Amino acid sequence: MSSKPHAVVTGGAGFVGSHLVDSLLEDGFEVTSLDNFGSGRPKNLAHIESDAFDSLEHDVREPFPDLGDVDYVFHFASRASPKDFESHAVEIALTNSEGTHNALRYARDNDARAILASTSEVYGDPEVHPQHEEYNGSVNIRGPRAPYDESKRFSEALAVAFQQQYDIDIRTVRIFNTYGPRMRPDDGRVIPNFLSQALRGEDLTVYGDGTQTRSFCYVSDLVTGIREFADADPNTASGEVLNLGSTEEIEIRTLAKTILDVLDADSEIVHQDLPEDDPQVRRPDITRAKQLLGWEPTVSLEAGLERTLPQFEDELDVSVDTRQ
Ligand SMILES: NC(=O)c1ccc[n+]([C@@H]2O[C@H](COP(=O)([O-])OP(=O)(O)OC[C@H]3O[C@@H](n4cnc5c(N)ncnc54)[C@H](O)[C@@H]3O)[C@@H](O)[C@H]2O)c1
Repeated sequence: MSSKPHAVVTGGAGFVGSHLVDSLLEDGFEVTSLDNFGSGRPKNLAHIESDAFDSLEHDVREPFPDLGDVDYVFHFASRASPKDFESHAVEIALTNSEGTHNALRYARDNDARAILASTSEVYGDPEVHPQHEEYNGSVNIRGPRAPYDESKRFSEALAVAFQQQYDIDIRTVRIFNTYGPRMRPDDGRVIPNFLSQALRGEDLTVYGDGTQTRSFCYVSDLVTGIREFADADPNTASGEVLNLGSTEEIEIRTLAKTILDVLDADSEIVHQDLPEDDPQVRRPDITRAKQLLGWEPTVSLEAGLERTLPQFEDELDVSVDTRQ
């Protein structure tokens, strides 16, 4: 039997999940990815040669397979693009309810620690700014984003239920907008949208007047925070919920200009109607992450965009020299 710690990562073929898999393998874990390849891609894992890694096609809405001894369950499976919130509404709602139920049962039955991926979307269109973990949020439970937002809220409630009823160590990360290589160019989230449009020489589409804000965290910073949280002392971290994200808040119209500057592109910025329930502001209060882990992001937006660009150039088959 292997002496390595074994981590199961649901959503391991996705953007965040595949970076998490890399980080765990680098640190000597045995890792199994469970993914239905709905929004994830086998090519996100194709570079891995390690014998300590296994990728299984599995939908988390179904009970998990027996994978032997398991020490950690990182539950990251869920489509996360607003583009999918309506077209895959039922799938998303069930992935974050039935899927989370399966993940938590599996962690409980294997005496494993569970790390649950929640989201800043649990705060909805927030009246409290920046958002701290004690804020209960302002989600439209009947709106088009509800299948994602509310199922993530339910997922957190289920984690609380498991903690109340069973002896289980569950840690929840509320992830704020994160970007980096391995996002799909057609993913529908704002950075992939702008990068793809700029690289194709198309106009950049800003929804509304572009004064709405977001805070963008580079994926390596996020993964460092997740790993530190997962490894933290149970006396302080078990049962906790933690915001992880960048505090560098930026208006979307400024993001568009920053991307055009980084690419030295001359696309125009055009405006379309703001989607329903689009949050006006978004910035995490990361005081708790700083206190608990000493964590804060280190990669600036410009540096992160530079690191993200090559994959987009590659996939879109265009090239930009950003270093003149
Ligand atoms: N990237 C962000 O900015 C962000 C922000 C907040 C929360 N999150 C959360 O982080 C997690 C990963 O998001 P991401 O950005 O990497 O998205 P992603 O779409 O790239 O990854 C999600 C992965 O989950 C898989 N998946 C979806 N439904 C599944 C199911 N029923 N069974 C098995 N696999 C399934 C997909 O195939 C994909 O590989 C999600 O839980 C998401 O809600 C991400």
